[in-house]
Amino acid sequence: MTKFEFFNPVKLIYGENEIGRIGSETARYGKKALIVSYTDISFYGDLFERIHSKLKENGVEFADYLGATANPKICEAEDGIELGKKEKIDVVIGVGGGSAMDLAKIIAAGILYPHDLRRMIRFTHSDANYFIAPTEALPIVLVPTLPATASEMNPTAVITDEKTLRKSYVWEPRCLYAKVAILDPKLTLSLPKYQTACGAVDAISHAVEPFFFSDEATYGNLDLHDQMQIGVIRAIYENIPKVMERPNDIELRGFMQFSATVALNGWLTCGTQGWTPMHQMGHVLSSHKGATHGATLGCMMLAWMRYFARRKQNERFVKFARLIWETEDLEAAAGIFETYIENLGVETRISQFGCDAGDLDELTQGVVDVSFDAEGMLASIPPITREEVRKIYEISL
Ligand SMILES: [Fe+2]
Repeated sequence: MTKFEFFNPVKLIYGENEIGRIGSETARYGKKALIVSYTDISFYGDLFERIHSKLKENGVEFADYLGATANPKICEAEDGIELGKKEKIDVVIGVGGGSAMDLAKIIAAGILYPHDLRRMIRFTHSDANYFIAPTEALPIVLVPTLPATASEMNPTAVITDEKTLRKSYVWEPRCLYAKVAILDPKLTLSLPKYQTACGAVDAISHAVEPFFFSDEATYGNLDLHDQMQIGVIRAIYENIPKVMERPNDIELRGFMQFSATVALNGWLTCGTQGWTPMHQMGHVLSSHKGATHGATLGCMMLAWMRYFARRKQNERFVKFARLIWETEDLEAAAGIFETYIENLGVETRISQFGCDAGDLDELTQGVVDVSFDAEGMLASIPPITREEVRKIYEISL
């Protein structure tokens, strides 16, 4: 294990009806809140009326910014920042899935950011001078309603530049952690099956990537990291079919909600240097083809397993197959996993997003533009070349 410093200051509140604390918790950080959520909030029922009334009860004024879309864009953040400045808000509340929460974070930092907002995001990994990290943000309160990204307990935000179709992220522990996150499993009961399943596949991928691509990964023993990562994967893998059968079971929903938080709140990767090449390739499918984030990760996990089934350096993948499916046949394991994802109703091939062989060069270039380093490789273990990126997309057609 390498040296590490772990810092996660998010106050996590979990429980049915705990959304009722949104007013008192927000009042600790500001007098006027910007509530960031989706352009369509009809599926939330009376949630926003309840949030408004709790804020009023606690003396917090508010303005709604309902501008988030499924893959949030820079222009949406700019609009939110403008509204936030005009309304003189001093705290930001994000309500929704990763998209709404990430947009809330970028707005909270963007209001205080003196540079072009695009410089806040790692839209290129080959030009070290492009990125200027945010150093401060308004206090952030998050209400996750879709278990998936763990944005509620990590310092990351993902966004797309609509002008260049580059989708990337900012990771900044100094200012992008929420002050408080309220996980109320009741808010996830009405989630449609597709969103529920995509969120689960995404959360699985958050534990799968460190298992595959961490430099401290062991090939023999089951060390602590292995056990934590495999434990999270198994928990979600076994739980989500039950959620699909009993969507109103609040215990199952709550278990899913906390599992997704644990998958990417930092615990699984303490003391390891890891990479997320599957996410880098998945982001291009979202920004160029509008594919749902979790679905892109399902496709990428399968394609990487199949790619490494044909290569020698596949010990970690074989170990994964053995621990999850009790087989060392990686192709067979990918087949089982594909059927599992299909049964959840989630795409397993990028052709289902409208991709064909004619798109491979554009998709590959998209990864090169954003995620290739100055040496011309995609960070991974082992590092991946342009040709390999293309091959993995091709396997996924
Ligand atoms: Fe993800």
